[in-house]
Amino acid sequence: MDIKVSRGIYLTQISEADKPSLLKYINDPDIYNYTLKIPYPYLGKDADDWISFVEESRLKERVLKHWAIKNENEELIGGAGFHSKYGKLSHKDEIGYWLGKPFWNKGIMTDVVKKVCEIGFSELNLVRIEATVFSRNTASKKVLYKSGFVLEGTLKKFYFKDDKLIDADIFARLR
Ligand SMILES: CC(C)(COP(=O)(O)OP(=O)(O)OC[C@H]1O[C@@H](n2cnc3c(N)ncnc32)[C@H](O)[C@@H]1OP(=O)(O)O)[C@@H](O)C(=O)NCCC(=O)NCCS
Repeated sequence: MDIKVSRGIYLTQISEADKPSLLKYINDPDIYNYTLKIPYPYLGKDADDWISFVEESRLKERVLKHWAIKNENEELIGGAGFHSKYGKLSHKDEIGYWLGKPFWNKGIMTDVVKKVCEIGFSELNLVRIEATVFSRNTASKKVLYKSGFVLEGTLKKFYFKDDKLIDADIFARLR
């Protein structure tokens, strides 16, 4: 079922048919540079694994927690969801998201994050939604501020990626 976010932007479950647009937009060093788990290059097998993972976790958790972001042409242009970081029964979870570069700086992710939080609070029964962002990721931090998140602190040398220690800022939004 499609969930309307804003004019021309929808959330839906990813399917096999979305594989070409997923590969087209996620294969970007600038997405890799600001995220922890998205590989670069992003191969066909990575896409297959992700599509299967989403369906398997939907069946296991009996609810969809990872959405494909689609535009008015029904093209996948990004993704957003919850990581189930603290287990499926927890009152809290972490949000994650990415968007294809041609669509940046149009306010799309701010609308998506607001909608995903609404779903998290009303349907997934979350009380606290966290986001842990590389401190240098100005655009993502702006999305969080605009979506009602509050900065709780900086986690020094929190991540280790590509032989570098990375500072992260932790944000939260409460129900
Ligand atoms: C972060 C990301 C999702 C933002 O999506 P988006 O749809 O472009 O976000 P929005 O347009 O809603 O908001 C971005 C804001 O950051 C601002 N911005 C972007 N780059 C900036 C920069 N280098 N310095 C200052 N502000 C910047 C934009 O102007 C906009 O603010 P405004 O609405 O006040 O003008 C997208 O850039 C992305 O996918 N990045 C790579 C993956 C990633 O970082 N994921 C999040 C990991 S925590």
